[in-house]
Amino acid sequence: MIKKIKVKNSGIIKAQFFNDFPDGNLAIAEKGKSVDFDIKRVYFINNLFNKKTRRGFHAHKTLEQIIFCINGYFTLMLDDGKTKQKILMNDPCYGVRLGPKLWHTMTKFSPDCVILVLAADCYKESDYLRDYDQFLKYIKQ
Ligand code: TYD
Repeated sequence: MIKKIKVKNSGIIKAQFFNDFPDGNLAIAEKGKSVDFDIKRVYFINNLFNKKTRRGFHAHKTLEQIIFCINGYFTLMLDDGKTKQKILMNDPCYGVRLGPKLWHTMTKFSPDCVILVLAADCYKESDYLRDYDQFLKYIKQ
């Protein structure tokens, strides 16, 4: 897991973490601590057995999200239109801020990978930029 993010509208979020092995670990993401927005939606992605799976390939106009890999690993690629950065997501203690105007892709999932996302708003298809050229135009406005 990388410790420094170069792209805009992102950053590393450290969850509060209690490592109580052998009785299991407890990780917490809480508004006012590691999370600076009201969480309106939580979604998770699992069942990532297909090696060819590629997810993401979009940006959001306004949505704030934080993404965690809570089991296994995957590669997160962030692109703010100028700078691109690949992050190996393999530590459940660290989330990555997926702020607005940030193109992202998710690839190279381990079969046991589980991704958890905290979102500041409900699902709105109108907030998506699903075409890369449209994304580049949008961020130049
Ligand atoms: P999408 O955000 O494109 O998935 P990913 O970035 O993980 O590849 O969403 C895939 C589909 O699921 C798309 O048709 C929209 C739908 N969806 C919802 O209905 N609600 C949600 O909260 C999310 C995240 C997706």
